Amino acid sequence: MGYQAHLRVWRGDAEGGELRDFTVEANEGEVVLDIIHRLQATQCSDLAVRWNCKAGKCGSCSAEINGRPRLMCMTRMSIFEPDEVITVTPIRTFPVIKDLVTDVSYNYQKAREVPSFSPPKDLQPGEYRMQQQDVNRSQEFRKCIECFLCQNVCHVIRDHEDNKANFAGPRFLMRIAELEMHPLDSLEENTGADRTAVAQSDHGLGFCNITKCCTEVCPENIKITDNALIPMKERVVDRKYDPILRLLPWRKR
Ligand code: SF4
Ligand code: F3S
Ligand code: FES
Repeated sequence: MGYQAHLRVWRGDAEGGELRDFTVEANEGEVVLDIIHRLQATQCSDLAVRWNCKAGKCGSCSAEINGRPRLMCMTRMSIFEPDEVITVTPIRTFPVIKDLVTDVSYNYQKAREVPSFSPPKDLQPGEYRMQQQDVNRSQEFRKCIECFLCQNVCHVIRDHEDNKANFAGPRFLMRIAELEMHPLDSLEENTGADRTAVAQSDHGLGFCNITKCCTEVCPENIKITDNALIPMKERVVDRKYDPILRLLPWRKR
């Protein structure tokens, strides 16, 4: 049965803005993005909102709903009381462009800074062979939909704008971990660059103090901290302090 939902939506741009209250029809089975679309269709035709799939797969509709980073298309209206005020604001860590749309180009910059997969020079495409257990290990990381909610919530950049230059954030440290765990990645053999050392020196792995906020908000339930960040930290320590491991050419496998 339909009811009137109470919405408080941030409206503004890079110059500033404010929360505005609206009453919008809501129906059984709807999600917050449905209500935002109805608001746009009936009351605020210039309301800016980014979305694409409405199925939790494109990662576009990230916002903060009642202060919690969430995908609007995956947040059911039924989790709120019908008379509750639902506050929708743009993700806070990135600069606002307009209303609920932020400039997430920081993330694309960080993605470009991660050295890509570097296969052994003597292998041709089609000759790659891997154990299933090695495939399984990084499969979890490839579920990432790049919603950047983990990037948004990590206090290292959320509360310290200055750190952005030196910190890749959980999503891209996880990407480095994925490549580091890839049995065929031969970046070090090919270029001399050790991914774990570079994660520490260039991508700010040491800034992460394992608060796990990134893991808590991930809509894909990826265990970012336990399965990517902590193993990377352990590898950094191993390489730095284990004198035998440092001498083994196959030590990463
Ligand atoms: Fe989003 Fe999770 Fe990927 Fe982070 S790791 S960008 S929270 S899907
Ligand atoms: Fe940030 Fe996640 Fe580490 S929230 S501090 S990257 S555990
Ligand atoms: Fe694609 Fe929400 S619209 S994840």
